[in-house]
Amino acid sequence: MNEQHPDRNFPKHFFWGGSTASHQVEGGNYNQWSKWELEQAKELAQTAHQRLHWLPSWDRIKDQAEEPENYVSGKGIEHYKRYPEDFALAQELNLNAFRFGIEWSRIEPEEGKWDEAEIEHYRRYIAELRKRKLEPFLNIWHWTMPVWFTEKGGFGKKENRKYFERFVQKVADELIDDITYIITLNEPNVYSSFGYLTGEWPPQEKSLFKFCKVYWNLTRTHRESYRILKAAKPSLYVGVAAQLGNIQSKRPHNVLDNVSTKWMRYFWNWWFLARIKRYQDFVGINYYFTDYYTGFGKRINPSVPVNDLGWYMEPEGIYPLMLRAWTRFKKPIFITENGLADASDEHRRWWIEETIVAMERAISEGVDLRGYFHWSLLDNFEWKYGWWPEFGLIHVDRKTMKRTIRPSAKWFAATIKKLQS
Ligand code: BGC
Repeated sequence: MNEQHPDRNFPKHFFWGGSTASHQVEGGNYNQWSKWELEQAKELAQTAHQRLHWLPSWDRIKDQAEEPENYVSGKGIEHYKRYPEDFALAQELNLNAFRFGIEWSRIEPEEGKWDEAEIEHYRRYIAELRKRKLEPFLNIWHWTMPVWFTEKGGFGKKENRKYFERFVQKVADELIDDITYIITLNEPNVYSSFGYLTGEWPPQEKSLFKFCKVYWNLTRTHRESYRILKAAKPSLYVGVAAQLGNIQSKRPHNVLDNVSTKWMRYFWNWWFLARIKRYQDFVGINYYFTDYYTGFGKRINPSVPVNDLGWYMEPEGIYPLMLRAWTRFKKPIFITENGLADASDEHRRWWIEETIVAMERAISEGVDLRGYFHWSLLDNFEWKYGWWPEFGLIHVDRKTMKRTIRPSAKWFAATIKKLQS
Protein backbone atom coordinates (compact mmCIF):
# COMPACT_ATOMS: atom_id res chain seq x y z
CA MET A 1 0.00 0.00 0.00
CA ASN A 2 2.75 2.40 0.89
CA GLU A 3 4.86 1.98 -2.19
CA GLN A 4 5.75 5.48 -3.38
CA HIS A 5 6.89 7.28 -6.46
CA PRO A 6 10.61 8.06 -6.33
CA ASP A 7 10.05 11.79 -6.79
CA ARG A 8 6.67 12.24 -5.19
CA ASN A 9 5.08 11.57 -1.89
CA PHE A 10 1.73 10.12 -2.92
CA PRO A 11 1.57 6.34 -2.65
CA LYS A 12 1.06 4.59 -5.98
CA HIS A 13 -2.34 3.23 -4.99
CA PHE A 14 -3.63 6.48 -3.55
CA PHE A 15 -7.38 6.89 -3.95
CA TRP A 16 -8.54 10.04 -5.71
CA GLY A 17 -12.28 10.28 -5.36
CA GLY A 18 -15.45 12.27 -5.43
CA SER A 19 -17.78 12.25 -2.45
CA THR A 20 -21.59 12.33 -2.40
CA ALA A 21 -24.51 11.48 -0.10
CA SER A 22 -27.71 9.72 -1.17
CA HIS A 23 -30.19 12.38 -0.07
CA GLN A 24 -28.21 15.22 -1.60
CA VAL A 25 -28.16 13.76 -5.11
CA GLU A 26 -30.58 10.90 -5.67
CA GLY A 27 -33.95 12.61 -5.93
CA GLY A 28 -37.34 11.11 -5.06
CA ASN A 29 -36.49 10.32 -1.44
CA TYR A 30 -39.04 10.11 1.32
CA ASN A 31 -37.39 10.36 4.71
CA GLN A 32 -37.49 12.54 7.82
CA TRP A 33 -35.51 15.22 6.02
CA SER A 34 -37.64 15.42 2.87
CA LYS A 35 -40.70 15.70 5.13
CA TRP A 36 -39.07 18.55 7.05
CA GLU A 37 -38.13 20.33 3.81
CA LEU A 38 -41.77 20.55 2.79
CA GLU A 39 -42.78 21.83 6.22
CA GLN A 40 -39.98 24.41 6.37
CA ALA A 41 -39.54 25.62 2.78
CA LYS A 42 -41.80 28.65 3.03
CA GLU A 43 -40.33 29.89 6.26
CA LEU A 44 -36.76 29.38 5.13
CA ALA A 45 -37.51 31.40 1.99
CA GLN A 46 -39.20 34.17 3.97
CA THR A 47 -36.34 34.47 6.46
CA ALA A 48 -33.58 34.16 3.85
CA HIS A 49 -32.88 37.88 3.68
CA GLN A 50 -32.60 38.23 7.42
CA ARG A 51 -30.33 35.18 7.71
CA LEU A 52 -28.19 35.57 4.62
CA HIS A 53 -28.08 39.16 3.38
CA TRP A 54 -24.58 39.61 4.87
CA LEU A 55 -23.11 37.08 2.44
CA PRO A 56 -20.84 38.51 -0.27
CA SER A 57 -22.74 36.28 -2.69
CA TRP A 58 -26.18 37.63 -1.60
CA ASP A 59 -26.98 39.65 -4.73
CA ARG A 60 -26.32 36.67 -6.92
CA ILE A 61 -28.17 34.13 -4.84
CA LYS A 62 -31.08 36.13 -3.48
CA ASP A 63 -33.69 35.17 -6.08
CA GLN A 64 -33.01 31.53 -5.48
CA ALA A 65 -32.70 31.84 -1.70
CA GLU A 66 -36.06 33.62 -1.43
CA GLU A 67 -37.85 30.93 -3.41
CA PRO A 68 -39.40 28.09 -1.33
CA GLU A 69 -38.56 25.59 -4.06
CA ASN A 70 -34.87 26.11 -3.28
CA TYR A 71 -35.39 24.30 0.02
CA VAL A 72 -36.90 21.12 -1.40
CA SER A 73 -34.64 18.30 -2.55
CA GLY A 74 -37.36 17.00 -4.94
CA LYS A 75 -35.87 15.40 -8.02
CA GLY A 76 -32.39 15.92 -6.66
CA ILE A 77 -29.99 15.85 -9.55
CA GLU A 78 -31.55 12.56 -10.68
CA HIS A 79 -28.42 10.69 -9.71
CA TYR A 80 -30.62 7.73 -8.80
CA LYS A 81 -31.15 7.07 -12.49
CA ARG A 82 -28.23 8.96 -14.03
CA TYR A 83 -25.50 7.29 -12.01
CA PRO A 84 -23.81 5.55 -14.99
CA GLU A 85 -23.45 8.96 -16.68
CA ASP A 86 -22.07 10.45 -13.46
CA PHE A 87 -19.56 7.62 -13.01
CA ALA A 88 -18.41 8.14 -16.61
CA LEU A 89 -17.70 11.77 -15.70
CA ALA A 90 -15.78 10.66 -12.62
CA GLN A 91 -13.65 8.49 -14.89
CA GLU A 92 -13.13 11.41 -17.22
CA LEU A 93 -11.70 13.28 -14.22
CA ASN A 94 -9.19 10.45 -13.70
CA LEU A 95 -10.76 9.51 -10.36
CA ASN A 96 -10.29 5.96 -9.14
CA ALA A 97 -12.66 5.97 -6.15
CA PHE A 98 -16.13 7.17 -5.22
CA ARG A 99 -17.85 7.74 -1.89
CA PHE A 100 -21.63 7.35 -1.93
CA GLY A 101 -24.52 6.86 0.47
CA ILE A 102 -27.21 4.24 0.57
CA GLU A 103 -30.63 5.43 1.61
CA TRP A 104 -32.05 3.54 4.59
CA SER A 105 -35.54 4.92 3.88
CA ARG A 106 -35.52 3.24 0.47
CA ILE A 107 -34.23 -0.10 1.72
CA GLU A 108 -36.55 -0.29 4.74
CA PRO A 109 -39.45 2.02 3.91
CA GLU A 110 -41.65 0.34 6.52
CA GLU A 111 -40.43 -1.05 9.77
CA GLY A 112 -39.02 -4.55 9.21
CA LYS A 113 -39.99 -4.65 5.49
CA TRP A 114 -37.11 -4.76 3.09
CA ASP A 115 -37.48 -3.46 -0.43
CA GLU A 116 -35.62 -6.00 -2.57
CA ALA A 117 -35.77 -3.82 -5.69
CA GLU A 118 -33.92 -1.03 -3.85
CA ILE A 119 -31.29 -3.45 -2.56
CA GLU A 120 -30.85 -4.63 -6.12
CA HIS A 121 -30.50 -1.01 -7.24
CA TYR A 122 -27.53 -0.51 -4.91
CA ARG A 123 -26.01 -3.83 -6.02
CA ARG A 124 -26.13 -2.64 -9.62
CA TYR A 125 -24.74 0.70 -8.51
CA ILE A 126 -21.74 -0.93 -6.84
CA ALA A 127 -21.22 -3.22 -9.86
CA GLU A 128 -21.20 -0.17 -12.12
CA LEU A 129 -18.52 1.47 -9.97
CA ARG A 130 -16.41 -1.67 -10.14
CA LYS A 131 -16.89 -1.90 -13.89
CA ARG A 132 -15.53 1.62 -14.19
CA LYS A 133 -12.59 0.99 -11.89
CA LEU A 134 -13.91 3.32 -9.22
CA GLU A 135 -13.28 1.87 -5.76
CA PRO A 136 -16.61 2.05 -3.91
CA PHE A 137 -16.57 3.66 -0.46
CA LEU A 138 -19.98 2.83 0.93
CA ASN A 139 -21.45 5.22 3.49
CA ILE A 140 -24.31 3.75 5.54
CA TRP A 141 -25.74 6.79 7.39
CA HIS A 142 -25.53 10.37 6.21
CA TRP A 143 -28.19 11.91 8.48
CA THR A 144 -31.35 10.80 6.66
CA MET A 145 -33.62 8.12 8.15
CA PRO A 146 -36.96 6.47 7.49
CA VAL A 147 -39.86 8.45 8.94
CA TRP A 148 -41.04 5.43 11.00
CA PHE A 149 -37.66 5.42 12.78
CA THR A 150 -37.59 9.12 13.63
CA GLU A 151 -41.24 8.94 14.73
CA LYS A 152 -40.08 6.47 17.36
CA GLY A 153 -37.56 9.10 18.54
CA GLY A 154 -34.60 8.19 16.29
CA PHE A 155 -31.23 8.11 18.00
CA GLY A 156 -32.67 10.04 20.93
CA LYS A 157 -33.60 6.67 22.45
CA LYS A 158 -31.23 3.93 23.40
CA GLU A 159 -33.78 1.23 22.59
CA ASN A 160 -33.97 2.46 18.98
CA ARG A 161 -30.37 1.55 18.23
CA LYS A 162 -31.44 -1.99 17.47
CA TYR A 163 -33.34 -0.80 14.36
CA PHE A 164 -30.28 0.82 12.88
CA GLU A 165 -28.16 -2.20 13.77
CA ARG A 166 -30.68 -4.51 12.08
CA PHE A 167 -30.31 -2.33 8.97
CA VAL A 168 -26.53 -2.59 9.22
CA GLN A 169 -26.89 -6.38 9.44
CA LYS A 170 -29.00 -6.28 6.28
CA VAL A 171 -26.30 -4.24 4.54
CA ALA A 172 -23.74 -6.79 5.72
CA ASP A 173 -25.86 -9.66 4.36
CA GLU A 174 -26.73 -8.10 1.02
CA LEU A 175 -24.37 -5.40 -0.11
CA ILE A 176 -20.77 -5.90 0.95
CA ASP A 177 -19.57 -8.77 -1.27
CA ASP A 178 -17.80 -6.32 -3.51
CA ILE A 179 -16.95 -3.72 -0.87
CA THR A 180 -13.68 -3.19 0.98
CA TYR A 181 -14.19 0.27 2.53
CA ILE A 182 -17.23 1.17 4.54
CA ILE A 183 -18.21 4.22 6.55
CA THR A 184 -20.88 3.69 9.20
CA LEU A 185 -21.70 7.28 10.18
CA ASN A 186 -21.12 10.67 8.64
CA GLU A 187 -20.23 13.51 11.03
CA PRO A 188 -22.06 12.48 14.19
CA ASN A 189 -20.90 15.72 15.88
CA VAL A 190 -22.53 17.93 13.25
CA TYR A 191 -25.78 15.96 13.19
CA SER A 192 -26.16 15.91 16.99
CA SER A 193 -25.28 19.60 17.35
CA PHE A 194 -27.54 20.98 14.63
CA GLY A 195 -30.41 18.60 15.25
CA TYR A 196 -30.45 18.68 19.07
CA LEU A 197 -28.42 21.63 20.38
CA THR A 198 -28.85 24.61 18.07
CA GLY A 199 -32.14 23.33 16.67
CA GLU A 200 -31.39 24.30 13.08
CA TRP A 201 -32.03 20.88 11.60
CA PRO A 202 -34.69 18.27 12.08
CA PRO A 203 -35.88 17.40 14.68
CA GLN A 204 -35.06 20.98 15.78
CA GLU A 205 -34.57 20.32 19.46
CA LYS A 206 -32.53 22.60 21.70
CA SER A 207 -31.57 20.50 24.64
CA LEU A 208 -28.13 19.80 26.00
CA PHE A 209 -29.42 16.65 27.61
CA LYS A 210 -30.92 15.33 24.36
CA PHE A 211 -27.79 16.27 22.44
CA CYS A 212 -25.62 14.26 24.85
CA LYS A 213 -27.95 11.29 24.57
CA VAL A 214 -27.94 11.28 20.76
CA TYR A 215 -24.19 11.76 20.58
CA TRP A 216 -23.63 8.95 23.06
CA ASN A 217 -26.06 6.62 21.26
CA LEU A 218 -24.20 7.24 18.01
CA THR A 219 -20.91 6.15 19.60
CA ARG A 220 -22.57 2.95 20.82
CA THR A 221 -24.32 2.23 17.56
CA HIS A 222 -21.09 2.70 15.65
CA ARG A 223 -19.34 0.19 17.90
CA GLU A 224 -22.09 -2.37 17.40
CA SER A 225 -22.17 -1.71 13.64
CA TYR A 226 -18.42 -2.24 13.53
CA ARG A 227 -18.82 -5.63 15.21
CA ILE A 228 -21.61 -6.64 12.82
CA LEU A 229 -19.67 -5.65 9.73
CA LYS A 230 -16.39 -7.22 10.81
CA ALA A 231 -18.14 -10.45 11.77
CA ALA A 232 -19.68 -10.59 8.30
CA LYS A 233 -16.41 -9.79 6.51
CA PRO A 234 -13.23 -9.49 8.56
CA SER A 235 -11.26 -7.99 5.67
CA LEU A 236 -13.45 -4.87 5.56
CA TYR A 237 -12.00 -1.52 6.51
CA VAL A 238 -14.62 0.16 8.69
CA GLY A 239 -14.57 3.74 9.96
CA VAL A 240 -16.57 6.95 10.35
CA ALA A 241 -16.31 10.23 8.45
CA ALA A 242 -15.51 12.73 11.19
CA GLN A 243 -15.89 16.47 10.74
CA LEU A 244 -12.65 17.90 12.15
CA GLY A 245 -12.01 21.62 12.48
CA ASN A 246 -8.59 23.22 12.59
CA ILE A 247 -9.32 25.03 15.83
CA GLN A 248 -6.80 27.72 16.78
CA SER A 249 -6.35 30.41 19.44
CA LYS A 250 -7.12 33.88 18.19
CA ARG A 251 -4.41 35.27 20.48
CA PRO A 252 -1.84 32.47 20.79
CA HIS A 253 -0.39 33.77 24.09
CA ASN A 254 -3.68 34.43 25.79
CA VAL A 255 -4.42 31.87 28.50
CA LEU A 256 -8.19 32.03 28.12
CA ASP A 257 -8.02 31.65 24.36
CA ASN A 258 -5.78 28.62 24.79
CA VAL A 259 -8.05 26.95 27.30
CA SER A 260 -11.10 27.45 25.15
CA THR A 261 -9.20 26.23 22.07
CA LYS A 262 -8.02 23.06 23.79
CA TRP A 263 -11.49 22.34 25.09
CA MET A 264 -13.08 22.91 21.68
CA ARG A 265 -10.48 20.72 19.99
CA TYR A 266 -11.13 17.87 22.33
CA PHE A 267 -14.86 18.20 22.36
CA TRP A 268 -15.42 18.78 18.64
CA ASN A 269 -12.62 16.74 17.10
CA TRP A 270 -11.53 13.97 19.37
CA TRP A 271 -14.24 13.00 21.84
CA PHE A 272 -16.18 10.77 19.46
CA LEU A 273 -13.11 9.24 17.82
CA ALA A 274 -11.63 8.46 21.25
CA ARG A 275 -14.82 6.55 22.16
CA ILE A 276 -14.53 4.36 19.08
CA LYS A 277 -10.76 4.08 18.76
CA ARG A 278 -10.73 0.29 19.05
CA TYR A 279 -13.60 0.08 16.59
CA GLN A 280 -12.18 1.69 13.49
CA ASP A 281 -9.74 0.54 10.83
CA PHE A 282 -9.18 4.01 9.47
CA VAL A 283 -9.91 7.60 10.38
CA GLY A 284 -12.09 9.47 7.90
CA ILE A 285 -11.60 13.24 7.96
CA ASN A 286 -14.06 15.76 6.55
CA TYR A 287 -12.32 19.12 6.47
CA TYR A 288 -13.85 22.50 5.70
CA PHE A 289 -13.04 24.83 8.59
CA THR A 290 -10.19 26.63 10.29
CA ASP A 291 -11.62 28.62 13.19
CA TYR A 292 -9.97 31.07 15.58
CA TYR A 293 -11.32 31.16 19.11
CA THR A 294 -11.06 33.65 21.91
CA GLY A 295 -11.85 32.77 25.54
CA PHE A 296 -15.33 31.37 26.30
CA GLY A 297 -15.58 29.77 22.89
CA LYS A 298 -16.17 32.93 20.84
CA ARG A 299 -15.13 32.50 17.23
CA ILE A 300 -13.47 35.41 15.40
CA ASN A 301 -12.17 34.52 11.97
CA PRO A 302 -10.34 36.62 9.40
CA SER A 303 -12.86 38.25 7.08
CA VAL A 304 -11.35 37.00 3.80
CA PRO A 305 -11.13 34.82 1.84
CA VAL A 306 -14.62 33.38 2.19
CA ASN A 307 -16.62 31.01 0.03
CA ASP A 308 -20.20 31.50 -1.20
CA LEU A 309 -21.54 30.40 2.19
CA GLY A 310 -19.38 32.99 3.94
CA TRP A 311 -17.12 30.27 5.38
CA TYR A 312 -13.58 31.49 5.98
CA MET A 313 -11.17 29.44 3.83
CA GLU A 314 -7.80 28.15 4.98
CA PRO A 315 -7.24 24.96 2.98
CA GLU A 316 -3.82 24.24 4.48
CA GLY A 317 -5.52 23.92 7.89
CA ILE A 318 -5.99 20.30 6.98
CA TYR A 319 -2.29 19.65 7.63
CA PRO A 320 -2.25 19.82 11.45
CA LEU A 321 -5.42 17.75 11.54
CA MET A 322 -3.89 14.89 9.57
CA LEU A 323 -0.85 14.99 11.81
CA ARG A 324 -2.86 15.05 15.01
CA ALA A 325 -5.22 12.30 13.91
CA TRP A 326 -2.24 10.16 12.96
CA THR A 327 -0.44 10.82 16.25
CA ARG A 328 -3.53 9.98 18.27
CA PHE A 329 -4.77 6.88 16.49
CA LYS A 330 -1.97 5.52 14.28
CA LYS A 331 -4.55 4.33 11.77
CA PRO A 332 -4.67 4.91 8.01
CA ILE A 333 -6.34 8.19 7.12
CA PHE A 334 -8.72 9.05 4.32
CA ILE A 335 -9.87 12.57 3.60
CA THR A 336 -13.50 11.57 3.15
CA GLU A 337 -14.71 15.11 2.35
CA ASN A 338 -13.09 18.41 1.48
CA GLY A 339 -14.32 21.26 -0.66
CA LEU A 340 -16.07 24.59 -0.95
CA ALA A 341 -19.22 26.32 -2.18
CA ASP A 342 -17.91 28.22 -5.19
CA ALA A 343 -20.43 28.64 -7.99
CA SER A 344 -18.12 30.80 -10.11
CA ASP A 345 -15.21 28.40 -9.64
CA GLU A 346 -13.02 31.25 -8.50
CA HIS A 347 -11.29 29.55 -5.58
CA ARG A 348 -11.65 25.82 -6.16
CA ARG A 349 -8.37 25.23 -7.99
CA TRP A 350 -6.42 27.20 -5.37
CA TRP A 351 -8.17 25.26 -2.59
CA ILE A 352 -7.33 21.88 -4.11
CA GLU A 353 -3.77 22.91 -4.93
CA GLU A 354 -3.13 23.97 -1.32
CA THR A 355 -4.72 20.78 -0.08
CA ILE A 356 -2.49 18.64 -2.27
CA VAL A 357 0.58 20.43 -0.89
CA ALA A 358 -0.68 19.85 2.67
CA MET A 359 -1.29 16.16 1.94
CA GLU A 360 2.18 15.71 0.47
CA ARG A 361 3.66 17.38 3.50
CA ALA A 362 1.72 15.11 5.87
CA ILE A 363 2.78 12.01 3.94
CA SER A 364 6.40 13.15 4.09
CA GLU A 365 6.01 13.38 7.87
CA GLY A 366 5.01 9.72 7.98
CA VAL A 367 1.22 10.05 8.02
CA ASP A 368 -0.38 6.97 6.43
CA LEU A 369 -2.71 8.94 4.17
CA ARG A 370 -4.42 6.74 1.62
CA GLY A 371 -7.02 8.77 -0.19
CA TYR A 372 -8.67 12.11 -0.91
CA PHE A 373 -12.37 12.55 -1.74
CA HIS A 374 -13.47 15.94 -2.96
CA TRP A 375 -16.84 17.22 -1.82
CA SER A 376 -18.46 16.99 -4.15
CA LEU A 377 -18.36 15.36 -7.53
CA LEU A 378 -21.55 17.21 -8.51
CA ASP A 379 -23.52 20.24 -7.35
CA ASN A 380 -26.10 18.97 -4.90
CA PHE A 381 -28.73 19.74 -2.27
CA GLU A 382 -27.00 21.55 0.59
CA TRP A 383 -29.34 20.68 3.50
CA LYS A 384 -30.96 23.74 5.08
CA TYR A 385 -29.42 26.10 2.49
CA GLY A 386 -30.95 24.18 -0.38
CA TRP A 387 -29.74 24.39 -3.95
CA TRP A 388 -27.84 27.66 -4.30
CA PRO A 389 -24.50 26.58 -2.74
CA GLU A 390 -22.56 24.82 -5.47
CA PHE A 391 -19.89 22.41 -4.27
CA GLY A 392 -19.45 20.38 -7.44
CA LEU A 393 -16.36 19.67 -9.49
CA ILE A 394 -19.13 19.32 -12.02
CA HIS A 395 -21.84 21.94 -12.39
CA VAL A 396 -25.41 20.69 -12.69
CA ASP A 397 -28.14 22.72 -14.37
CA ARG A 398 -31.21 21.58 -12.47
CA LYS A 399 -33.63 22.55 -15.22
CA THR A 400 -32.04 20.42 -17.89
CA MET A 401 -29.95 18.24 -15.53
CA LYS A 402 -27.03 18.89 -17.83
CA ARG A 403 -23.65 18.20 -16.27
CA THR A 404 -20.69 20.49 -17.11
CA ILE A 405 -17.15 19.92 -15.89
CA ARG A 406 -15.80 23.07 -14.20
CA PRO A 407 -12.36 24.43 -15.23
CA SER A 408 -10.90 23.66 -11.78
CA ALA A 409 -11.95 20.04 -12.22
CA LYS A 410 -10.15 19.83 -15.56
CA TRP A 411 -7.04 21.09 -13.83
CA PHE A 412 -7.57 18.61 -10.99
CA ALA A 413 -7.93 15.74 -13.48
CA ALA A 414 -4.65 16.68 -15.19
CA THR A 415 -2.93 16.94 -11.80
CA ILE A 416 -4.16 13.53 -10.69
CA LYS A 417 -2.80 12.09 -13.92
CA LYS A 418 0.61 13.64 -13.27
CA LEU A 419 0.66 12.43 -9.69
CA GLN A 420 -0.18 8.91 -10.81
CA SER A 421 2.22 8.66 -13.73
C1 BGC B 1 -21.51 17.12 4.98
C2 BGC B 1 -22.09 17.25 3.60
C3 BGC B 1 -22.26 18.72 3.25
C4 BGC B 1 -20.91 19.38 3.30
C5 BGC B 1 -20.91 20.86 2.95
C6 BGC B 1 -20.40 18.09 5.28
O1 BGC B 1 -20.45 18.50 6.59
O2 BGC B 1 -21.15 15.79 5.25
O3 BGC B 1 -23.29 16.55 3.54
O4 BGC B 1 -22.88 18.91 2.02
O5 BGC B 1 -20.40 19.28 4.61
O6 BGC B 1 -21.63 21.57 3.89
